[in-house]
Amino acid sequence: MKTKLAFLISKALNESLSVEEIESLLEIPKYAHLGDISFPCFTLAKKLKKSPQLIAKEIAEKIQGDFIQEVRAEQAYVNVFFHQLQVANNVIEKVLLEKHHFGTKEKNGQKVVLDFSSPNIAKPFSMGHLRSTVIGNALANISEKLGYEAIRINHLGDWGTQFGKLIVAYQLWGNLQAIEQNPIEELLKIYVKFHEEAEKEESLNDKAREAFKALEDGNEEAHALWKWFRDASLKEFEDIYQMLGVSFNSYHGEAFYNDKMGSVVEELINKGLLEESDGAMVVQLEEMPPCLMMKKDGATLYATRDLAAAMYRYNLYEPAKIFYVVGHEQSLHFKQLFAVLKKMGYQWSENLMHVPFGMMLKDGKKMSTRKGKVVLLADVLAETMQAARKNIEEKNPQLKNKEKVANEVGIGAVIFNDLKNERMNDIEFSIEKMVTFEGETGPYVQYTNARIQTLLNKGKFSFTESHLNYLDGEAWEVIKLIETFPHVIETAFVQANPSTIAKFSLQLARSFNKYYANTKFLTNDELQRERLKVAYAVSILLQESLRLLGIKAPKEM
Ligand code: ARG
Repeated sequence: MKTKLAFLISKALNESLSVEEIESLLEIPKYAHLGDISFPCFTLAKKLKKSPQLIAKEIAEKIQGDFIQEVRAEQAYVNVFFHQLQVANNVIEKVLLEKHHFGTKEKNGQKVVLDFSSPNIAKPFSMGHLRSTVIGNALANISEKLGYEAIRINHLGDWGTQFGKLIVAYQLWGNLQAIEQNPIEELLKIYVKFHEEAEKEESLNDKAREAFKALEDGNEEAHALWKWFRDASLKEFEDIYQMLGVSFNSYHGEAFYNDKMGSVVEELINKGLLEESDGAMVVQLEEMPPCLMMKKDGATLYATRDLAAAMYRYNLYEPAKIFYVVGHEQSLHFKQLFAVLKKMGYQWSENLMHVPFGMMLKDGKKMSTRKGKVVLLADVLAETMQAARKNIEEKNPQLKNKEKVANEVGIGAVIFNDLKNERMNDIEFSIEKMVTFEGETGPYVQYTNARIQTLLNKGKFSFTESHLNYLDGEAWEVIKLIETFPHVIETAFVQANPSTIAKFSLQLARSFNKYYANTKFLTNDELQRERLKVAYAVSILLQESLRLLGIKAPKEM
């Protein structure tokens, strides 16, 4: 509607402002008596050297359309009242016919690569990795909704000098069975022990360096151990992915690029970009520190591997965009990476985007999955599901599939708690708050949808025709929100910010609940059907919003 109106206003102004400019100026008035959308004329007044009141009057006289009921010039504003039933019918008809495809765009033949989750082998899956997983997965779903093919890549941290330490630690203190049973906990234990012992026994560090060198040179035993650590850790990560309902197209981590860096370094040399600095090799950059590519001993680094990875992915997929969903502490790393690619002459470096995010806090402090004794993410998730189970037990002890629903609610709560926030904000992890069925929570949205399912059943609603003939109560407010859904998804994609969708779902749930609280729905007449059409449309959009965020929508809860 905004775009349609902006188009009319632009025409009325003989295009002295573009449709986009007008759209960005349009406001939703605070009070219903000021219309559904209003256009402030202050900006134009300066440009056209006329009073804003006069401009408002001129515009108001010129615009008309079948979806517009009335246009009023009130002071410096053009206040537009939509033809409610007409607009409502257009919107509802579309949703009921398209169902979950409302807002879906046709396949555009383009790819989007998403580098997300990317935990480190033999280390606990951190809260940061959880955030990356949840945000990345939502962005992938959103990309698909908008017609892209999404390629989900888990850039595992499976290489680096720490593997030398692990190999030595394993040879000294490792217990095969214990590691098989609890890979990450056990590997972390011997890794921590390595550091403690190395404080006392300097030579351990030399041994670790040798072990890593052996690994890099392809030593069989070292390689077998590395592979075992990797497989065992991955198996444990898989449990988390399964709980979260996330999957990947590729698990090519850092190690995958070992044999691909020679040619990248060569290219840097040929392009005259590699310089020596204190014995190491760097690429000098403008307005930021140089990017370190090779250490004194010739070993490559995190950045070198990311450079090789970017080129590999570009050549393989030719994506329209690559998103890196990684915490904001790595902002400099990605700035450098993109700058190096640009210096190499790759125009496509402009299509790479770092998607940073803030920290997870508990009681105001950074939440860690490894402080003191080992707390693993799987345990945190188990605790959330337990809390959801308790809530359901209180609210609806009769419920079938209690276990399954509790898991969907508990996990949904964690995901929603993350995604409802602007991603750069730090977020508070309070299990109690996020699993309640009221307030700004995932369970609230899920619960609203489940209640609508019950309502539809009670009202024996069956979808036969999509035309909407009647509106009452606060239905119009609900319709106006529904209408914005396609736009909300696009904004989420452009800003790489799924929170717009989470916020939308909260607003829609709240708005519907208000309508429902003030209006008797089941009146056993033809008007009941019309109300239930709106309710049905709302439930479709709540489900679709949750799906995009990576959250299940139980039918009953
Ligand atoms: N493994 C890294 C970490 O845990 C994140 C990797 C992110 N992706 C990338 N292409 N650098 O910090």
